[in-house]
Amino acid sequence: MSWFSGLACGRCETPHDHHRVQRTCTACGGPLLAQYDFDRVAPTLDDVLARRPGQHRLFELSPLAGGIDAPTLGEGATPLVPVPRLGEALGLSRLLVKDEAQNPTASFKARGMAAAMARAKELGIEAVCLPSAGNAGGAAAAYGAMLGIEVHVYIPKSTPSPIVEETRALGAEVTLIDGTIADAGRELAPAAEEHGWFPLSTLREPYRIEGKKVMGFELLYDLGSLPEVIVYPTGGGTGLIGMYKAFDEMERLGWIDDRRPKMISVQTAGCAPIVRAFDRGLDHAPVWEAPQMTAAFGLRVPGALGDFLILRAVRDSGGAAVAIEEADLLDGQQLLAKRAGIQGSAEGGACVAAVRKLKDEGAIAEDDRVVVFNTGHALKYGG
Ligand SMILES: Cc1ncc(COP(=O)(O)O)c(C=O)c1O
Ligand SMILES: [Zn+2]
Repeated sequence: MSWFSGLACGRCETPHDHHRVQRTCTACGGPLLAQYDFDRVAPTLDDVLARRPGQHRLFELSPLAGGIDAPTLGEGATPLVPVPRLGEALGLSRLLVKDEAQNPTASFKARGMAAAMARAKELGIEAVCLPSAGNAGGAAAAYGAMLGIEVHVYIPKSTPSPIVEETRALGAEVTLIDGTIADAGRELAPAAEEHGWFPLSTLREPYRIEGKKVMGFELLYDLGSLPEVIVYPTGGGTGLIGMYKAFDEMERLGWIDDRRPKMISVQTAGCAPIVRAFDRGLDHAPVWEAPQMTAAFGLRVPGALGDFLILRAVRDSGGAAVAIEEADLLDGQQLLAKRAGIQGSAEGGACVAAVRKLKDEGAIAEDDRVVVFNTGHALKYGG
């Protein structure tokens, strides 16, 4: 069963009661992170590999009570695809794509929402809300439909219509707003207050990250050891922070040593708060003024609550933060399709472009195992 033992602030470490509904740290407003009791007999990696694949495979380190039978729409256990022809184009002999488009609702957002919504159900929450660049709203809607939780999503008008239609088709109430996801968040706040909806915004509740961290465990399941480089498209950064948390947990289980993959945080040139903070040596990322439109709409996040955790993971791992021009990310998306057979998201395309850049700069070696995250499916972006 689960080893879930508490919540603690990622910034000031103040403990919070995990049996109650929690949002952010009551002392400093920082993100709350789930903690586990490692004072138990740990399963071996082989024990876990013998279990049914999927999001709940390592149920000891899940906040959900249901063990391996916790609610699921089949998210997780996505393929780690060797892509030799794409690797050849980029000068890499061991390039891999973690194809997160193969999740329910065709994006990696399903993983975080699976955990957050199932935990919301356990805590008796009946209605949730979130501002979304698009994919998270669709994922929340799907789990809301499955679990019987009301979902309200505020989405920028610029979001591609297939995503808006998907979210509505899955039974969520959709409100279209002018501006970015940050503007959506500002419009949503008073409505949430008035109606008593529980906010599921990135890192403003503790459990989405627990779903996302499973991506990190799956890399170990598939490769037997962690790769040398992980390339991740960063908006709010839940996946990057989650995987880095997973690596610490693996070390505590005795599965790995203290070495970490180089974490590469990828953003767009028109909205790159993490890259700017990384380049300037800052611990926090000031909000990006006037974020530009981009096909990689999931990366149009001007300020992230977990900025300090993203920057810490990138620096501690010897990684980098890279900003990609629009033309280059679209080229990357085409390369992914034409040389790997994966119709990926523009965000995934940005990661391919980042690999090219880092390889050209000598920051990645020819025989490094490099994992590119394709976070969504091209079909969701419409014409
Ligand atoms: C396809 C896609 N990739 C990447 C991201 C960024 O993810 P995160 O907020 O976890 O950094 C998003 C967020 O909406 C997304 O939709
Ligand atoms: Zn705190």
